[in-house]
Amino acid sequence: MDAGFKHSGDPDAVMGEPSAEMDALRPIPRISIQAFCETEAVARPIERAGEDRRMAKAHLRVHMGGVRAAAEHYASAPTPNLVILESRYAPGELMTELEALAEVCDPGSKVVVIGHYNDVALYRDLIRNGISEYLVAPVALADIMGVISSLFVAPDAEPLGRSLAFVGAKGGVGSSTIAHNVSWAISKLFSSDVVVADLDLPFGTANINFDQDPAQGIAEAIFSADRMDDVFLDRLLSKCADHLSLLAAPSILDRTYDFDADAFSALIETAQRGSPIVTLDVPHVWNDWTRQVLARADEIVITATPDLANLRNAKNLVDTLKRLRPNDRAPRLVLNQLQIPKRPEISPQEFTDPLELEPLAMIDFDPAIFGAAANNGRMIAETDAKHPAAEAFSQIAHVLTGRGEAKRPKKTGLLGLKDLLRRK
Ligand SMILES: Nc1ncnc2c1ncn2[C@@H]1O[C@H](COP(=O)(O)OP(=O)(O)O)[C@@H](O)[C@H]1O
Ligand SMILES: [Mg+2]
Repeated sequence: MDAGFKHSGDPDAVMGEPSAEMDALRPIPRISIQAFCETEAVARPIERAGEDRRMAKAHLRVHMGGVRAAAEHYASAPTPNLVILESRYAPGELMTELEALAEVCDPGSKVVVIGHYNDVALYRDLIRNGISEYLVAPVALADIMGVISSLFVAPDAEPLGRSLAFVGAKGGVGSSTIAHNVSWAISKLFSSDVVVADLDLPFGTANINFDQDPAQGIAEAIFSADRMDDVFLDRLLSKCADHLSLLAAPSILDRTYDFDADAFSALIETAQRGSPIVTLDVPHVWNDWTRQVLARADEIVITATPDLANLRNAKNLVDTLKRLRPNDRAPRLVLNQLQIPKRPEISPQEFTDPLELEPLAMIDFDPAIFGAAANNGRMIAETDAKHPAAEAFSQIAHVLTGRGEAKRPKKTGLLGLKDLLRRK
C-alpha cells in the first residue's frame, strides 16, 4: 500500500492534509533524522512523516523531551543529518538552551526548531545562529515533509553527500580493503548511510569483501548513464548492512572497460544527492576518468606501503592532486602493511617527510586477520572488534566525516600516532 495518510482509518489521517503539496514531493534521500518533542501534537505528525512512502530510505527516530534531552543525548552519541527540536521555551530562554546543544552537535548536522512563539525576531535570531528552519506549532504532516524536502531534496538544497575517494600508491597495497572497512565503520559508528561504489569494473573485490553477488551494479550505471536518476540507482544498489549499500563491479572480463573522462560523473552526482557518504573505491590506474574522479572528490585517501616505489608514486600522486585541487586540503595518507617480517622498510618519518603529510593511520601487516576477514566476506571489526586495525578504521572514519578525534578517549588516537612517530 502507498502513503497511509489518504487511505487509513486512523482519525489523524483524515485531517485533510493538502495532498497536492505532498504529491509534488520527491523521495527523501538516505538521511538520518532524530526528533526531540515535548508534546504529542508535534510528535505525532513527525511519526507519520516517518511512515510516508517518500521516507522509505530515511531513518527516523522520535524521542520525547525537548532541547535539553537532545543535548544530553548527543553528549555521548553522534548527531544525525537532521535534528528536529520542539521547544515551548520563550524566545530568550530558547536561545540559551540551544547553546548547550551547539556544543555537542556535529557541524554537518542540520537543526530545525518547532516553537510555540510566532516571533519574527526569534526566527531571524535562530537563522543567524545556524538553525536551518523555524516552524511554529501546531504543525501538520505536510509541514514536516515540506521542511525535510526543502533542506535535502530541493534543487537549491546544499549537496547532501560527501565523496571519499580511496586509491593505492601501487596495486595490492590494501586501498580497497581500507575503503570497505572505513565505509563500514562510518555506517556503524554514526548510523549514517554510505554507498560504496566499486570503480574497478574488471577486478573489483567489494562484492567478495561484503559477501554479495548482485546481478546488477556499477556496469549498468555507467553503460546506461543517460537513464541515471535516484530511482534507477536505487535498483542497482545491494544492501550489505543497515546503513551500507554497494554498487558492485561485475568483475568479469567479457568486455573491456575504456571510459571517457566524464563516464562516472552522473553516477557520482546522483549518489551524492541520495546518500550522506559516497565511497569511491578507485583502482590503481591513471587515465582520464580516474584523474577526473580523484580531482572532483571531496576527500582523497592514498594508501601506501613503505617501500621506494610506493614513496615515488605517492609523491607524484600528492603533487599532481595538489595541482589539480589548489583550493582543497591535501590528500590523506594511510600507511598499510607495515612490519612485514624480514622486509626492509622505509621508516614512517622518512616516508612522510617528502610528502609533507602526517599519516592518518598506520596499520601493521597481519595476514591472519585480513585473510580470514576477506575469505569470510566480513569486515575486520566483525572478525575481531578489538584489533588495532579496527581502531584505525574508526579513527579514519571520524576524521573523514569531519568528526575530528573520537568523542570517547581512545588509546590510539592521532596523538598516540604522533607520539609513535616521534619515538621512531
Ligand atoms: N594490513 C594488512 N595486513 C595483511 N593483509 C592486508 C592488509 N591490508 C590489506 N591486506 C590484503 O592485501 C590484499 C590486497 O588488498 P586490496 O585491498 O585488494 O588492495 P588494493 O585495492 O590496493 O589493490 C588483500 O588480500 C588484503 O586482504
Ligand atoms: Mg583495489
